[in-house]
Formats: sequence, structure tokens, C-alpha cells
Amino acid sequence: MDVVLSGIRATGHLHLGNYFGALRNFVKIQDKYNCFYFIADLHSLTTHPHPEDFHQNVKIILTEYLAAGLDPDKCTIYVQSDVPEICELYTLLNMLAYKGELERTAAFKDKVRKNPENVNAGLLTYPVLMASDILIHRSSWVPVGKDQDQHLEMARTFARRFNNLYGTEVFPEPHAMDPVGGPVKVPGLDGNGKMGKSEGNGIYLCDDEKTITKKVMRAVTDAGPKTPDSPKPEVIDNLFTLMKLVSTPDTVNYFEEKWNDCSIRYGDMKKQLAEDICKITLPIRARIDDIANDSSYLHRVVSDGRDKARASASATLEMAREAIGIKRF
Ligand code: TYM
Repeated sequence: MDVVLSGIRATGHLHLGNYFGALRNFVKIQDKYNCFYFIADLHSLTTHPHPEDFHQNVKIILTEYLAAGLDPDKCTIYVQSDVPEICELYTLLNMLAYKGELERTAAFKDKVRKNPENVNAGLLTYPVLMASDILIHRSSWVPVGKDQDQHLEMARTFARRFNNLYGTEVFPEPHAMDPVGGPVKVPGLDGNGKMGKSEGNGIYLCDDEKTITKKVMRAVTDAGPKTPDSPKPEVIDNLFTLMKLVSTPDTVNYFEEKWNDCSIRYGDMKKQLAEDICKITLPIRARIDDIANDSSYLHRVVSDGRDKARASASATLEMAREAIGIKRF
């Protein structure tokens, strides 16, 4: 059975970008594939979080994964730092990753621009750790949003390089697994291209109705179309992109027609959009508290997940070590 793996960095609550990019559609395939969903806590260390926040962030993602519908009886849910085999593979793959190619990564260049005072080696080798996450289970499919394309390309490069250097086929080349309808980029509603934690423009799965409505009603718009069938500026296109994810086709068509005949009222559209977001997120929000308060359940999920993930990871590592020539005396 093909292996599917997905992960989210433990840096705070899940927003609609995480949900539609990496989670929603993939909740549905958890009994059809051998699925691993993990919490990327080591990746979050690049920004040196406070120890108490660090653990809390892991708990948040775990709780929200479960609230969003991941079922530990159908898939393996685990915490990255519980599986030391990932770090060993990271060491091995680092020998095949070149400084130049790592420095050229768009995400790295972006971080250097934004935080020039904290350009650490973990940031530079972030794609190697991500490749290790993927390759440690010999995954073929990775549900991710569009923003992770380059990282996935690098995981393929490292897999190919390892296989070629050691004359082996240990690692399949992993590919993005897109939801039906193609890759997703959930826009921000503040005029920014992408919804994201660091962009500060997230609509979160744990937001209440009032907060969601307020965030959507504040979305940036323009003065409205002047001529029929005119192209949409980016901020308006963003509203429609989000609506296509959360609303019925009939609703989207209704507002498309209103746009095309210049009778659109953004207030009505935003109100509908907020209602449709709430229909999806409020049932998830309602489950979050109960799950978060059930420590023994959370403990059971991560310890079962750790055992299953380590069994899979150590089998792969054994193959990689053998290919390299690491032998026991
Ligand atoms: P992270 O935590 O930034 O995001 C987690 C997932 O959410 C997707 N995503 C989006 N998709 C569409 N539109 C958006 N606005 C949006 N914002 C976030 C991301 O594409 C991602 O799929 N490097 C990863 C974490 C990671 C990982 C892995 C993922 C570490 N190792 C191995 C997959 C496989 C990251 O920073 O994701």
C-alpha cells in the first residue's frame, strides 16, 4: 500500500490554509492508504520558542488534528521529536545536500530577508529535515499546499541522489498529493497573497463565530466593478477563491453573476462567506476543548503513534545504513 505522509509545523493554531492545503481532503483517504500525519516540532525550533510554548504548540496541533477528523485507528499520528530515526536520516542526507542549493531555496531567502539576525544552520538545512520526514517512511505521496512545492522537489533530489550514489532503490521519489481540483493556495483576506501564521492574517479552526465574522467583514475590497465582465483585481479574486473552498457552487455562481453584472455588494458576499466558513469550522471548534482536556486519550494517541512510526522508520533506516555500508561489529 502506498505511503502518504503529511506534517504541520508546531507554531500555533491551525488556520484555513493548513486545513485546505494539507488536511481536509486527506482526512478522507486515511483508511485507503498507509497514512502518517505528524507534528513537526523540531522544525519549529529554528525560531527558539520558549520551552513552555513549545510543548503547548505540539498539544495544540495534536488536538486540532483529532478535532479535524484524523482517526488514530486508521492512521499513524505522531510527534517528530518522538522518532529519533528521523534525525539520523537527517544527518545522513545532510552529506548529500549542498550549501549552494540550500541557500537558493525561496523559503530560506525569505527568512534571511525577514530575520537577518537569526540565520541558523537549522534554517539552512530545513529542507533536509523535511526530506528526512518524508523519506523515513519511504512515502510516495505528500499532501501539502502549493507553497511546499520547492521543498518537495528537494526531497526528490535527495532521494534520487542517495539512490544513485549507493546504487540502491531505498527511497521512492515523493510527489505532492493534491486535493481533487488541483493544488490549493488559500489567500489572505488582508490583501496579502497567502494566509499564514507569520503573515498574521489567519482564520483559525478554533476561532469563534464572532471572531470569524469580524475577520471576514474586514477583508480588503475595492470600489466595485465599473464595467460588466471585467477581470477581478487580486483582493476580490481572493474572496472568490476562499468562497470556492467553503461555499456551494450555486452560491459561488450567484456572486459571480453579481460581479459580472456589476451589482455585487461586498457586504452580502462577506456575510455569506463568514457563514459558510463557520459551517465548516465551528463543528471542529466544538470538539477541540473536549479532546484537549482528555490527557489520557492524547497520551495514548501519541504513544501508539510513536511505536508505529518508529517501527516503520527503523526499517527504512536499516536499509539506508546497509546501502551506505554502516555495519555492526
Ligand atoms: P506549515 O506548517 O507552514 O504548513 C502546513 C501545511 O499547510 C499548508 N499551508 C497552506 N496551504 C494552502 N494555502 C495556504 N495559505 C497555506 N498555508 C499553509 C502547507 O503547504 C503545509 O502543507 N515545512 C512544512 C512542515 C513539514 C512538512 C514535512 C510537511 C515539515 N516536514 C514533511 C509535509 C511533509 C511547513 O512549514 O508547513
